[in-house]
Amino acid sequence: MKRLLLFTVALLCMSVAFATDYANVIVPRPLNYTTVEGSFILTPKTVVRAESQALAHAATIFAEDLTVVTGSTLSVKRSAPRNGAINLTIDSSLQAEEYKLNITSAAVNIIGGTERAVFYGLQSLLQIAAASDAVKGGVSLSGVKITDKPHFEYRGALLDVCRHIFSVEDVKRYIDILALHKVNKFHWHLTEDQGWRIEIKRYPELSEVGAYRNQTLIGRNRRSKVYDGTRYGGIFTQDQVREIVAYAAARYIDVIPEIEMPGHAIAALTTYPELGCTGGPYEVWTRWGVSPDVLCAGNEKIYEFLEDVLTEVCDLFPSEYIHIGGDECPKASWEKCPKCQAKIKKLGLKDKDGETAEHYLQSYVMKRMTEFLGKKGKKVIGWDEILEGGLAPNATVMSWRGEEGGIEAARQKHKAIMTPHTYLYFDYYQSYDTKNEPLAIGGRLPLERVYGYEPMPKMLSPEEQKYIVGVQANLWTEYISTFRYAEYMLLPRLAALSEI
Ligand code: ACM
Ligand code: ZN
Repeated sequence: MKRLLLFTVALLCMSVAFATDYANVIVPRPLNYTTVEGSFILTPKTVVRAESQALAHAATIFAEDLTVVTGSTLSVKRSAPRNGAINLTIDSSLQAEEYKLNITSAAVNIIGGTERAVFYGLQSLLQIAAASDAVKGGVSLSGVKITDKPHFEYRGALLDVCRHIFSVEDVKRYIDILALHKVNKFHWHLTEDQGWRIEIKRYPELSEVGAYRNQTLIGRNRRSKVYDGTRYGGIFTQDQVREIVAYAAARYIDVIPEIEMPGHAIAALTTYPELGCTGGPYEVWTRWGVSPDVLCAGNEKIYEFLEDVLTEVCDLFPSEYIHIGGDECPKASWEKCPKCQAKIKKLGLKDKDGETAEHYLQSYVMKRMTEFLGKKGKKVIGWDEILEGGLAPNATVMSWRGEEGGIEAARQKHKAIMTPHTYLYFDYYQSYDTKNEPLAIGGRLPLERVYGYEPMPKMLSPEEQKYIVGVQANLWTEYISTFRYAEYMLLPRLAALSEI
């Protein structure tokens, strides 16, 4: 966090050189912002006054993060004089994520609809403090009156820990960065062709076999046969998962785990070849792209496997939503597989309305898992391919191949999250000058393009627009092998996500 804040301080100081207005250093820019007379001197002795235990938690995180500005950690107290303090209060007449932040010479007051809202007010205060001038004994915060609330309820960022794995500390730092930008969903991509990354007690072999690939392709040439010859992988234990989920929850971030099905599953197939159409052998993928081998939808064993996995996942993640993938599942193996064809026959699936029977078979898999999760009180999110062959009741669509999936979902009265790759895939180059950038997957997505994205499709009626619940940026990590590089790709584009 310290390094992050130093980085933020540096960034903020740069912007202050152009405009002393805090409105430009608070991310996202608040809805209402007025300067007021006077200034508040923040010193190491300033108390954060939090009236409840929950507010005290938020205050403690703030005080620790602020240490880089104040030099020592402010104390958090349940009762103290309001004068001269940073006062945190709940006002339930405000919306759940709405806050007011008032700085006067007498005090700093943050009032939020909930603790989460107060936490967002504190993030703004952190940014203000980092951008303020040092004076004798402290930092001088200029008087302001701010009110803010988010436009979208869902503000997400994905981290792929499968193509490359990151440490628990790195993942926490990713969460810190999201919190600083008032992002409230962490989409954790945990299973892939190139590695299975979540410990499942019932299937311990996943941690030994599925979690490791023999080597990794060097460079981006898809025809290349040059590998690094180094075994690569790792797993997040259930204890580590719980630690990360708790860390995120303390920062008002829901962790949405993604368990991919029926495609992107070679790591699982390598571990349990009987779950595939051919029976294998398979090898955890050592290159990037879309594998033709997928889970065999005609084999009842995959449903048992997925249900067991999802049962443990539901126990680990309090999130209302579980992401079950659904993207990029080639159907060629199902076309040739006697078990899949028998299943199609048994279910009476046929080619119709421009979709093949195999697409309806995928829809069957997704609906069956949605129903299973529904019984556990969970809802599902899937990539926009889940529209093909029909959406499961209540499923939320994550629109990545463009905006069409989200638009179609909204028209069908299903929630949708916009994450079109041309605007929100942060694994794309940040500059048109790609020669001077580290190797990336391709695409060109400079900061201004992210800022320019309007997530709400204008062709939807006001009623349909209500189903567009938010936006998400995705950090896929085929070429991102270090967390330092991950940060480079995330920032400052995450600020633009926060704004939109
Ligand atoms: C995706 O990028 N395949 C969701
Ligand atoms: Zn099959």
